[in-house]
Amino acid sequence: MTREIELTAEKMVAEGRALARPDGFVVFVGGALPGERVRARITQRKKSFAFAQALEILDPSPDRQAPPCPVFGQCGGCAFQHMAYPAQLRAKHQILIEALYGLPGVPGIVAEPLGMEEPVHFRNKMGFAFGMAEGRAVVGLHRRGDWRSVVPAGTCLLQSPESREILARVLAFVQDQRLPVYDEEKQQGLVRHLVVREGKHTGERMVHLHAAERHPAFEQLPAVLGDFASTVLASFHTQVPESAPPGSTTVLSGPGLIHERLNGFTFEIGPATFFQTNTRQGERLFGLVRDWAADCRPERAVDLYAGTGPIAIHLAAAASQVLGIESHAPSVDAARRNVELNILSNVRMVCAEAERVGETLREERADLVVVDPPRPGLHPKAKAALLSAAPPNLIYVSCNPATLARDLAKLVESGYALERVQPLDMFPHTFHIEAVALLSRKMNAQHPTATAHRPGAW
Ligand SMILES: C[S@@+](CC[C@H](N)C(=O)[O-])C[C@H]1O[C@@H](n2cnc3c(N)ncnc32)[C@H](O)[C@@H]1O
Repeated sequence: MTREIELTAEKMVAEGRALARPDGFVVFVGGALPGERVRARITQRKKSFAFAQALEILDPSPDRQAPPCPVFGQCGGCAFQHMAYPAQLRAKHQILIEALYGLPGVPGIVAEPLGMEEPVHFRNKMGFAFGMAEGRAVVGLHRRGDWRSVVPAGTCLLQSPESREILARVLAFVQDQRLPVYDEEKQQGLVRHLVVREGKHTGERMVHLHAAERHPAFEQLPAVLGDFASTVLASFHTQVPESAPPGSTTVLSGPGLIHERLNGFTFEIGPATFFQTNTRQGERLFGLVRDWAADCRPERAVDLYAGTGPIAIHLAAAASQVLGIESHAPSVDAARRNVELNILSNVRMVCAEAERVGETLREERADLVVVDPPRPGLHPKAKAALLSAAPPNLIYVSCNPATLARDLAKLVESGYALERVQPLDMFPHTFHIEAVALLSRKMNAQHPTATAHRPGAW
């Protein structure tokens, strides 16, 4: 195969690439849309497939659009800005259906994705890196395929105008003060990352600078940011921002946390807590889980992989008792505060690993378990725990179609019926797909531990 080739893209597949089959050989091509004839360069060739990048679009798709962001293609943040939004949703629907293909009822039970009305300015959290370009400090997102260089994010449409102003002010401050940018390879310099978190419904904003070490100039940041930040923090370490070591963080102004509201509930967001990054779609996701849960009429519900508790809190109106289970201790603390903030007397949170909750689940005799695992999906031991508890109803919230398909296949094989699947677009312009699946235990399915069941108390 020559290094340059003409091919026709058939359909979108995982990771934002299109599939083409010139002469039956599989090529995953970046930058092409379904139906397009493109001239492409082969970037990597394996025995049975190759990767390629489109160089020229010979016959453009009607779904192709001019990317709204001028740095699309250079920046590693978005994968789909060259595709009209309705086509992005169609592609995600088809990718999800293909991942779930073979499961009973698929494709008929996979609803069309719930997309955003206006897919801009939706992120409530963005992390930026500092870098150097033409001898000057810049702040932005990592360049596609090159984590060492940074593409300025001043034009990024995923963040709010206020976040853009924050970015501009902090960058001007770093340049004016001549603060050196940290070089991750040489391990020299000072400023590393900037994380901006926003309560879209509360207007509160957290600005969190990560630097290699302390510097007296950082004390000026709250004044530099003025009303644009309700709290300013700085962490001093050389880990990735998510792994800032305990004790490395200083609150420079404000309470050190912000609040967000979802469907009328209030949530506290600290610098290290996981929170859905799309507020509007988060409301739809949790509202959907609440509505599906209410249809199951549960007495006792469990929220497994509960994070800071948004699902458990939404389940409070649908079930008499709710137990949230989460392994990250700071998230459990935040979830307990969220339960208190919302004055809910029927929601409890425990800190435990999903792999070790078999006995708890069996004792609790939950009639509904909602799981929302990270991308690797359910750990085999967590699956075994679920199956031995055998709740009549299961809701699976997934951010990874591949692991969702694997886990659903196991649950279906073990006596569950897959009732419905609803995708939601939590991350417009990226290839990420979120989906919620409802399962019910078949009437004739044998309970694996029928004799071990006994009522338990929380
Ligand atoms: C996708 S997040 C969902 C959180 C929450 N449902 C939400 O929407 O905000 C997955 C959560 O699972 C937690 N987690 C990861 N591994 C876990 C495990 N082995 N046992 C329990 N929780 C775990 C993470 O800390 C994270 O809070």
